[in-house]
Parts: sequence; structure tokens; C-alpha cells
Amino acid sequence: MQNNKRILNIVTGVMLMLGTSQALAVTTLKLSHNQNRDHAVHKAMTQFANEVKEKTNGEVRIRIYSDSQLGNQRESIELMQNGALDIAKSNAAELEAFSPAYSIFNLPYLFRDKGHYQQVINSDIGKEILNSGQNMGFIGLTYYDAGARGFYAKKPIRTPEDLKGLKIRVQPSPTAIAMVKELEGHPTPLAYGELYTALQQGVVDAAENNITSFTLSRHSEVTKFFSLDEHTMIPDVLLISNNSLNKLTTEQQEIVKKAALNSSKYMIQLWEKSEKEEQAKAEKQGVEFIIVDKTLFQDAVKPMYDDIAKTQPELFEMVNRVRKVE
Ligand code: GCU
Repeated sequence: MQNNKRILNIVTGVMLMLGTSQALAVTTLKLSHNQNRDHAVHKAMTQFANEVKEKTNGEVRIRIYSDSQLGNQRESIELMQNGALDIAKSNAAELEAFSPAYSIFNLPYLFRDKGHYQQVINSDIGKEILNSGQNMGFIGLTYYDAGARGFYAKKPIRTPEDLKGLKIRVQPSPTAIAMVKELEGHPTPLAYGELYTALQQGVVDAAENNITSFTLSRHSEVTKFFSLDEHTMIPDVLLISNNSLNKLTTEQQEIVKKAALNSSKYMIQLWEKSEKEEQAKAEKQGVEFIIVDKTLFQDAVKPMYDDIAKTQPELFEMVNRVRKVE
């Protein structure tokens, strides 16, 4: 009898423990991105994950899947929309197809310089764009600096004429496609992960990206001329699905949002360092960085703005708002 009582007590105790551990249930959020683990953005997101874990006392954990393990950027956004993924690091170019407000970042030479670009990101415009995906099932938590993009090819690109007739890989962004057409190249949209082979096998003649991604994706092994034309500054964007955000308590949501902003500040420092290091690395690999007269490229893409004024009044209004940001 006494024994039975003891057993009953133990069983009740175990059940109570199980109950408590369920109350402290851990929410694990899956984060997907397409860079490798040496990339600055992976490091910034690792800080994001660590801060979230620490500030929620381990109740919210973020598991990062790098190198497109869970699919390319478009597939990751779709997985998020279907509820199979919580967080994705994408890029404003890829996002244009989901939410047109992001196209502002894909317009060449819209930003006067890096300072102007940062001001826009931190302005109401930047916030509006992050929220613009909400009816597509996700919001942007923050932007990650991704430098300025330049064209690279197996031959030097010194003027817009040098791009004529080249097959140029672009991100799947209608604005990027329009830009390359304006420059009289042949735009070829491809996922990032497919580009190394496409360059190596001559499926495309050229591409465009920032210096860090150029070397870390090993494109610098197969293309030896990088033009510092800085045609766009396209940020990466950290997205979370509405459903995943709503699974969290209000307090946890605040922690996630704050940690994202903190990691974005950290990224600015990481970026500067990594860009310099990667340029030095590429130079050692025999890559020539070409200083170009940017005004030639600016003039060549100007008709895009006339076109937008005529055909996309909403976007043109946004362009004017961006231009006014001091
Ligand atoms: C950058 C950006 C990536 C993007 C890539 C691309 O490296 O950070 O998110 O996928 O450009 O050109 O596809």
C-alpha cells in the first residue's frame, strides 16, 4: 500500500515536471540564406540568433541554414509563405517580384552616395518598404548593408559600350533586367547558386555584384575584371513570416525586432572590413579592379527614369521622395 502511494507520488511528480517543461516550451525558428558561413551577413545573423536566445532565456531559438540548403532565395520566400520556413535573408532585388516597393533599391544611381542610401534606409521610406510585404505573408525586420555593385566579366568593362551584346547575369528583378537592356546587354536572370558554373562554362559573359560576394562565391576565380561602377546599392533584407511572428509573445516579438536592428548595425562594421579584405584577396588572385567614369554609366541609364515617369507613377513618386531625402 505504502509502495503504491510512493509510486503514485513519483508518477504525479513526473507529470507535473512534464507539464512545467511544456509551459516553458522552446520555439525554434528556421532561418534560410544563400551565402556561405564566411560571409559577413552570416556572422551578423549569428549575432541576431545569439541575442534572441539570450534575451528570451532560451525560449526562442533561431537555427540558421546557410548556402541555400533550404532552397534559393525565391524558394525560401515561397517556403515562408507556405508556413514551412520562419525567417529568410533575401535581397531587395529578389523581393521586387513579391512586393514592388523594393524596386526602389534596384534603380541605378538613384542614391547620390552611401550616406544618402543609409538615410533612406533609416527613413520612413525604408520602414514602409519593410512593411510592404505584409499582405504577401511576411514583413522585413531589417536591412543588411551589401555595399555597391559593379559589373564583372572576362574582359574589362570601362564604358557602357563594353557591355553591348554581352550575356549578363542579373538577379530575377524586372528593374535589373530593364537596366541591362538599357545598356544594350542581354539580361539573363539566374539564381546566385547557379552563377559560378554559368560563368565558368560561358553560359553568361558577365555578372554584377558587390566585392564580398564576388570573391566568397569564387566568381573571382573565373572572371578577372571587376568594374567599380557602383551602379546600385541593394541591401539584403531579413524577413519573417507573419505566422511565425504571431506565434511569439509580444515581449518575444520585441526582442526579435530589436536583435535584428542590432545585428544590422553590427553588419555595417563587418561589411567595411570584409569588403577591403575581399578586394585584397581578389587582387592576389589576379583580379583587376577598374576605376570607371561613372557619369558615362549614369547617362546611359537615364532613359529608365523617363520611362518610369510615364508608365509607373507610383514608383516615380517614390523616386522623387528618395531624391528629397537629405
Ligand atoms: C548579393 C546578395 C545576395 C544575392 C546576390 C545575387 O550577394 O547579398 O542576397 O543573392 O547578391 O546577386 O544573387
